[in-house]
Amino acid sequence: MRLAAIADVHGNADALAATLGHIRTQGCDAIVNLGDCFSGPLDAARTADLLAGADIAVTVRGNHDRYLIEQRPEDMGLSDRVAFDQLGRHTLDWIRTLPTAAVYGDVFLCHATPDKDDIYWTEQVLPDGTVCRAPLHQIASRTSGITHQLILCAHSHLPRALRLYTGQLLVNPGSVGCPAYTDDLPVPHAVCAGSPHARYAVVDTVTQHTTFHLVSYDTTAAVARAVAENRPDWAQGLATGWITA
Ligand SMILES: [Fe+2]
Repeated sequence: MRLAAIADVHGNADALAATLGHIRTQGCDAIVNLGDCFSGPLDAARTADLLAGADIAVTVRGNHDRYLIEQRPEDMGLSDRVAFDQLGRHTLDWIRTLPTAAVYGDVFLCHATPDKDDIYWTEQVLPDGTVCRAPLHQIASRTSGITHQLILCAHSHLPRALRLYTGQLLVNPGSVGCPAYTDDLPVPHAVCAGSPHARYAVVDTVTQHTTFHLVSYDTTAAVARAVAENRPDWAQGLATGWITA
């Protein structure tokens, strides 16, 4: 089965539309979505419409999806609040139905790690804020109890494919809609994919042949929305794939 994996759309409807259009040219059997669908200073409402019409086989819930149904609007972060204000009850109810992890065919899916939706699986943040790959033994230890040979995860917005000691292949398709961001935890750091493309992956679940795609799209409207929401960090990230921390 040829599986298209999308993740971390973060309300970027233009990036999602371009990605779905590219997926249609790839002869895929199914699409899976690894979560963080809406949060961002962009177009959560149109993102919801696109996802609803995309015939996605399974979606797992990301940490930012969870914040939209767990937190009071007045307590939400800036990106979550913009999305929340655009989403109808139907979409919020749909988020409540989403699993935190799932199995599709022979593939294990989760947003961040099998147990947590808000920590990096394959990255570590050093005390000075440098983001780099985590030690392999630490990555492999988090597969405990998972026997599937193919594992899809997201959250860090950085495409990766890692073969573990166990023989399992761990694939992060990267982010459709947010190529660069900053976070304060565990220490302030920036994650930068390094170009403004929308990213996703196609994985053959039998051969494990994996292709990472970088899809070009016109970022002008998304950048303008970020500027209008007073989010220069997002504007820079969307336009360039970099954020100056
Ligand atoms: Fe995310």
